[in-house]
Amino acid sequence: MKGSIFNALETLVLELKDTLYWENLLVKHAPKGRCYIGVNDYPDTELYAMVNAICEELQLTLDEVLALFGRHLFAHLMHHYEVVVSRFAHFEALILNINNVIHKEVNKLHNGANLPIMRCMMIASGHIEIHYNSPRKLCILAEGLIYGAGDHFDMAVKITHPQCQHRGAEACILNVYYTQQEENDG
Ligand code: HEM
Repeated sequence: MKGSIFNALETLVLELKDTLYWENLLVKHAPKGRCYIGVNDYPDTELYAMVNAICEELQLTLDEVLALFGRHLFAHLMHHYEVVVSRFAHFEALILNINNVIHKEVNKLHNGANLPIMRCMMIASGHIEIHYNSPRKLCILAEGLIYGAGDHFDMAVKITHPQCQHRGAEACILNVYYTQQEENDG
């Protein structure tokens, strides 16, 4: 997994806990002297070990932490890869272009990143169906990222996940329903 993903995890840990806790995670789950550089690759197992430790510490399930992390990660990626994402002014355009533009550009920048296949199809106004497929089976992280995109563009988002790689399907199906967030009168 790219260093930028670990950098995002660090900022989440600093929000939820503190620097000391992050340093302890490094001591326990990474090789000595590890320093994550955004563009470099690090073993997925390091990330999973840290995420599992966070689950224990916060008494949350793996899905809860992955969803939280995905939501947080979106803002981090928007900042880190501004050149790739600044062209998308709307939630819908960004989601429809995850595979064909965003991850494609990321792949060019990194010369072979570990990215999922995400086929995004417009079903009706306010409804996009996504077919997610990845050997890493991080579909709940994907859900979190989509909710994070909703936060960014002030959209109210709901996702259903009727078919899942974790339940033996070849690909997950994510139905993304979205509307513009109501203006707050107050
Ligand atoms: C809502 C929109 C997005 C979704 C649903 C999404 C989904 C994902 C998922 C699930 C992964 C984990 C790898 C896997 O599942 O195999 C991933 C990795 C990644 N994504 Fe996205 N993504 C989104 C937007 C973005 C954006 C805006 C960027 C930056 C321009 C980005 C850059 C990356 C990078 C750098 C990785 C890690 C690649 C690696 O470690 O080699 N993604 N994405």
